[in-house]
Amino acid sequence: MDTVLSGIRSTGHLHLGNYFGALRNFVKIQDTYNCFFFIADLHSLTTHPHPTDLHNGVHIILSEYLAAGLDPYKCALFVQSDIPEVCELFVLLNMLAYKGEMERTASFKDKVRQNPDNVNTGLLTYPVLMAADILIHRAKYVPVGKDQEQHLEIARLLARRFNNMYGVDVFPEPQAFNFGANLVKVPGLDGSGKMGKSEGNGIFLYEDDKSITKKVMRAVTDSGPTEPNSPKPEVIENLFTLMNLVSESDTLAFFDEKWNDCSIRYGDLKKQLATDICKTVAPIRERIDAISNDADYLRKVAALGRDKARESASATLKLAREAVGFKAF
Ligand code: TYM
Repeated sequence: MDTVLSGIRSTGHLHLGNYFGALRNFVKIQDTYNCFFFIADLHSLTTHPHPTDLHNGVHIILSEYLAAGLDPYKCALFVQSDIPEVCELFVLLNMLAYKGEMERTASFKDKVRQNPDNVNTGLLTYPVLMAADILIHRAKYVPVGKDQEQHLEIARLLARRFNNMYGVDVFPEPQAFNFGANLVKVPGLDGSGKMGKSEGNGIFLYEDDKSITKKVMRAVTDSGPTEPNSPKPEVIENLFTLMNLVSESDTLAFFDEKWNDCSIRYGDLKKQLATDICKTVAPIRERIDAISNDADYLRKVAALGRDKARESASATLKLAREAVGFKAF
């Protein structure tokens, strides 16, 4: 059975971008693949969270993973920092990653721009740690959103380099994965770029109907089409992209037609979009509270996941250490 792996950073709550870009796919495949899903708390350290925020973030993401339908008895659901083997592989892979390559990564350039006072080398080697996460379980498929494409390319590069350098076939080259469809980029409601945790443009899985509706009704629009069948400007395309994710296909077709014959009313479109987002989020939100208050259950889940993940990670690390040439006296 092929191995699938993915992770989400432990900063803040999960939003619709995380859900449609990654989590929904995790939930769908857990019956058919050997699955590893984790909470990337080591990656979160790049932005220097306070220790209590760090733990709280892990607690939140674990609860929200479970509320969204991940089954800890079907997949290995674990916390990245519980797997020390990842850090050792990270060191080995760092020897194969070149400074110039890392500096050219789009996510690194973004972070430097956003936060010039905290350009730590953890940010520079962020993709190497991500490659270690993936390669330590020899994963073949990685369900992620479009923003992670370049990181996956680096994971493939490092897998290939390691195999070539040591003349082995330890690591498969991992592929980004979305059921044969294109990777998803969920837009924000402010008309600019992707939905994110820190961009202030997100809809979160814990949010109630009232708050979601308020955000959707405030989404940026324009003054409406004047020519039939004209291309949609980005702010409007974004609303249709969201609708495509949450609504029935005939709802989308209905509003598309209204756009094309210039009779569209953005108020109606937003009302429908809000209703359909609420329908997606409500059943998840309803489970989050109960799960996040059940400390015993969360402890059990994390321990179960850790044991499964360490078993797999230590087997791979043994192969990597042998390949590199480490030997016991
Ligand atoms: P993170 O925490 O930023 O995001 C987690 C997942 O959510 C997806 N995502 C989106 N997809 C579509 N549209 C959006 N607006 C959107 N926003 C977020 C991301 O593509 C991602 O799949 N580096 C990773 C975490 C990580 C990881 C890994 C992932 C660490 N190690 C190994 C896969 C494999 C990250 O920061 O994701």
